[in-house]
Amino acid sequence: MNFTEKLNLILEDAFDRAGYDRAYGRIVPSNRPDLCEFQCNGAMAAAKAYRMAPIRIAEAVVPYLASNPAFKTVSACMPGFINLDVSEAFLRAFLKESAALPGFGAAGHAGKKILIDYGGPNVAKPLHIGHLRSAVIGEALKRMLRFAGNEVIGDTHLGDWGLQIGLIIEQLKEEKPDLPYFDPDFDGDYPEEAPFTISELETIYPKASARAKTDQAFSDAAHENTYQLQQGDPACTAIWKQIIRVSVEDLKKNYANLGVSFELWKGESDAEPYIPTLLMTLEEQGLSYVSDGAIVVDVQEEGDKTEIPPCLIMKSDGAALYQTTDLATIIDRMEHFNPDEIIYITDKRQELHFRQVFRVARKANLVNEDTELVHIGFGTMNGKDGKPFKTRAGGVMRLEALIAEINDAVREKMRERYEGEELDEETVKAVGLSAIKYGDLSNQAAKDYNFDIDRFSSFEGNTGPYILYTIVRIKSILRKAGFTTLDPERLSDLPSGNPKLKELMMDLCGFGEMMEAAIRDLAPHKICGYIYGLCDTLNSFYHETHILNEEDEGIRQSYLCLLLMTQQVLETCIGLLGFSAPEKM
Ligand code: ARG
Repeated sequence: MNFTEKLNLILEDAFDRAGYDRAYGRIVPSNRPDLCEFQCNGAMAAAKAYRMAPIRIAEAVVPYLASNPAFKTVSACMPGFINLDVSEAFLRAFLKESAALPGFGAAGHAGKKILIDYGGPNVAKPLHIGHLRSAVIGEALKRMLRFAGNEVIGDTHLGDWGLQIGLIIEQLKEEKPDLPYFDPDFDGDYPEEAPFTISELETIYPKASARAKTDQAFSDAAHENTYQLQQGDPACTAIWKQIIRVSVEDLKKNYANLGVSFELWKGESDAEPYIPTLLMTLEEQGLSYVSDGAIVVDVQEEGDKTEIPPCLIMKSDGAALYQTTDLATIIDRMEHFNPDEIIYITDKRQELHFRQVFRVARKANLVNEDTELVHIGFGTMNGKDGKPFKTRAGGVMRLEALIAEINDAVREKMRERYEGEELDEETVKAVGLSAIKYGDLSNQAAKDYNFDIDRFSSFEGNTGPYILYTIVRIKSILRKAGFTTLDPERLSDLPSGNPKLKELMMDLCGFGEMMEAAIRDLAPHKICGYIYGLCDTLNSFYHETHILNEEDEGIRQSYLCLLLMTQQVLETCIGLLGFSAPEKM
């Protein structure tokens, strides 16, 4: 039971004992923190039903609350508020209880099987910052849903089946015509060695893509290659496999630098075998029809405020589309995993795509009736000036370059801060990662945000480095004190009467309900907001309280124990966000 639920129970009992409906016993954080910590507005709500002045009801309930040791002060205020301050004894008891529970009482056993589709890189194209958000948000959600006790499988859903492959093959044919793939009489085994390195591959694609825009013959040939690949041509298939091998190796390295990993590395191509089943199912159920030579399914529903165009399943030339592979992938996923929920994390500009896909999947019963299909659309990450993110030279920013820039900024700040000290490159990387991830996750996913390297890498304010700095500060105090084990019993000695201490205790008591909300709403930004507040509270408590010099040994130990609990709560949170704190910085 979380903190608010516990308090609500006391409030409910008080209303009941005073002769009013229990349901009015609800507590909320105070609108006037200068007057009290919490308030109950139930008397105002009850006034109508009981035809009484709200203040009379409040006054009748107050004695039942005042006698409860959970509260320090309770008063009825015009026109009918009940103002409450909780007692430190209640906070101590709650903290002791949660300190002994897994995940401080917030780890759950939700028990659903969830497949989360995130990352979504396209092979042979460099990872760019457009893919950063999907990876960062998806990884956080995966960890959060696991913390809640679900079985969660992450799938990158590689873009590995489109025209880019045909383009690369055509360009390769021009640049290296002597490769056996292009010899029509070749009948041996194709070489094991890839015909390109990753850096070659990354230059081949942009060249080919630019060329196809002006050279019709080249573009036709690339389409033909793609068609051949999809028909299983051995030479095209062999090149395609090499493209995947080289790309995936590079992608894994990049994702590892981001602290992102996937259980499944399936791709659009894996959906290919399910396309015939898809087409047959849609046709058998009378859902698909031919329109202008293409196969489509209507998805408009009564009550739609805008027009939802039919979902295009197959173009007139027989080529599969993004929708086609997504629908076929659903069949594959249901067959292999039968998940309770599938969550997709992409740019919000793909909203219509997913709306159409989900509707077709439901209409055709590709999923169980209770399988949830969820699309989380995120906003654009812009540069500091609010315009699409570009490199200094004006090109599309590659993820690696972005990470390097952030790390440079962090290194410079750390140099200033710790003048003369040797910088540990691993620490720089850890701080850099916190800057990137926190900078992203602290915004509501759906909103656009400006990636401000200078601000994100700052050690002050609402940033990843500030959070890490606070954790490292706690670690250093505890190290000095030689304090290592969280024994909940020690929290009994936390003293009353120190407002900063009380605030810290309250913040920690709020961990469970914050986490429930963050997981329920799939909202990592709620975790960020919470830890930012917790760090501020901790730092101001630390500022005003002598911890290591405290003479009363019991109190000293209780402080250290509370610090350790704060550290563990913070580290639990950043672990879910997908980064970690160094020992020193
Ligand atoms: N590869 C796609 C892109 O770059 C994202 C894939 C997202 N997942 C999906 N099942 N459609 O936009």
